[in-house]
Amino acid sequence: MVVAARAQNERVIHELEQFVRFPSVSATATHAAGIRNCAAWLANHLRSIGLDHAAVLPTAGHPVVFADWRHAPGRPILLIYGHYDVQPAEPLDAWRSPPFTPTVRGEGLYGRGASDDKGQLFVHVKAIESLLKSRGRLPVNVVCLFEGEEEIGSPNLGAFLRKHRHLLAADFVVISDTQIPAANRPAITDSLRGALGVELEVQGPRRDLHSGVLGGAVGNPLQALAQILAGLQGARGRIAIPGFYQRVRPCDDQERAYMRRVGPSDAQILRDAGAMPSSGEPGYSLYERSTIRPALAVTGVTGGYQGPGVKAVIPAKASAKLDIRLVPDQQPEEIADLLRAHLAQVRPAGFRVGMHVLLSTRPVTMRRDHPAVGAAMRAYGSTFGVAPVFVRSGGSIPVVGLIQDILGLPVVMMGFGLPDDHIHGPNERLHLPTFFRGIETSKRFLDEAARLEGLGESCRPRHRPVLQQALE
Ligand code: BES
Ligand code: MN
Ligand code: MN
Repeated sequence: MVVAARAQNERVIHELEQFVRFPSVSATATHAAGIRNCAAWLANHLRSIGLDHAAVLPTAGHPVVFADWRHAPGRPILLIYGHYDVQPAEPLDAWRSPPFTPTVRGEGLYGRGASDDKGQLFVHVKAIESLLKSRGRLPVNVVCLFEGEEEIGSPNLGAFLRKHRHLLAADFVVISDTQIPAANRPAITDSLRGALGVELEVQGPRRDLHSGVLGGAVGNPLQALAQILAGLQGARGRIAIPGFYQRVRPCDDQERAYMRRVGPSDAQILRDAGAMPSSGEPGYSLYERSTIRPALAVTGVTGGYQGPGVKAVIPAKASAKLDIRLVPDQQPEEIADLLRAHLAQVRPAGFRVGMHVLLSTRPVTMRRDHPAVGAAMRAYGSTFGVAPVFVRSGGSIPVVGLIQDILGLPVVMMGFGLPDDHIHGPNERLHLPTFFRGIETSKRFLDEAARLEGLGESCRPRHRPVLQQALE
């Protein structure tokens, strides 16, 4: 029995390795084949485990992988979302094993996307497979929506949801793309920050100039940019864009007390991150600063000669990338306008400052009282042996707001990532014991979800013709 279970786990790990092997980086055009092949593999895999209508559906960008199973009439329909795209793997030389050569070391499977989000998505795929194998059927109806553009802000997913709203009709949604505080501490994430990604470009001289011959005489865009960036934040972490905090909803004391009780300490956060604390905001814990307060991060600065050795040149232009995280009720579009107006104010004389928006997604909060959340709590409780807590995350997942706005469905965020998975960094890994426990949790969740009643009209299975049409 134990031997059979081990062989079974080996097979699952082997399949996950195949999945992680695809360099499905959404950010760069050079990985188009990695995306395409990964999507095809995933659709094929979903078909092979017994799901229906498995297909790679086009969008204006990278495709969506779809499949469903609707043979439980009268039972709820569960929409499962995940993303098969991954972040760029650079810097490559910091990886102990190559990012797209998945490698098991200790309890971890190492590779880009192993935790975010291929491993977590695979939790549900393997749970479905296991139930179909052992029982020949699922306790609920299931619709799978696996995206290929999450890591670039899901620019085409809104249009996809609108176009295929009938195909995606469901009672509630489960997403596993978040973290739990520790392997023995399950948690449901109930808020995510929004994000506004922008690129700033400062233009100075018409062309690169000799920095000796003209240094001191002409303006330097790299230095102008440095001034602008330094001025974006006050000494104690306060973001200095006028109007920026206007819509920030204060968090009530009861909620802050709950966060203090169940959330990570400052020391824990710094230990997991291997980092030093930010200089502000005073009065807020690091957990609070990274979840219920907005933040501004400079994520890149470029300008001047980047090669080895010396080059005496004043560059014609310089640019920077900003990652601004937003909390309720900040709107990314409004924040972009405020930033644009601020830049026009602080622009050093003679320089041109351009700004373009790279991505934009609103902050979200999720209900704690929906029956599907109860089902997730019972599922976690029975497989982890301890009741889950509610946590807030500083990260962003664009689909959540889109699902709320376009499909109007409740979302349950049931994560299986750990704080030391190194997502987005070198040596990303998936904690395999938590992954296998996740599969048990997902199976349990499907059973618990089947018992939910009174979800209303939407419990009825959808008409076949609608489905057929959408897939043509
Ligand atoms: N899965 C993450 C977000 C996340 C990480 C949520 C950890 C909770 C805990 C997701 O893939 C991600 O990285 N999102 C991007 C979205 C952005 C590009 C709009 C992010 O947060 O930077
Ligand atoms: Mn993710
Ligand atoms: Mn990510």
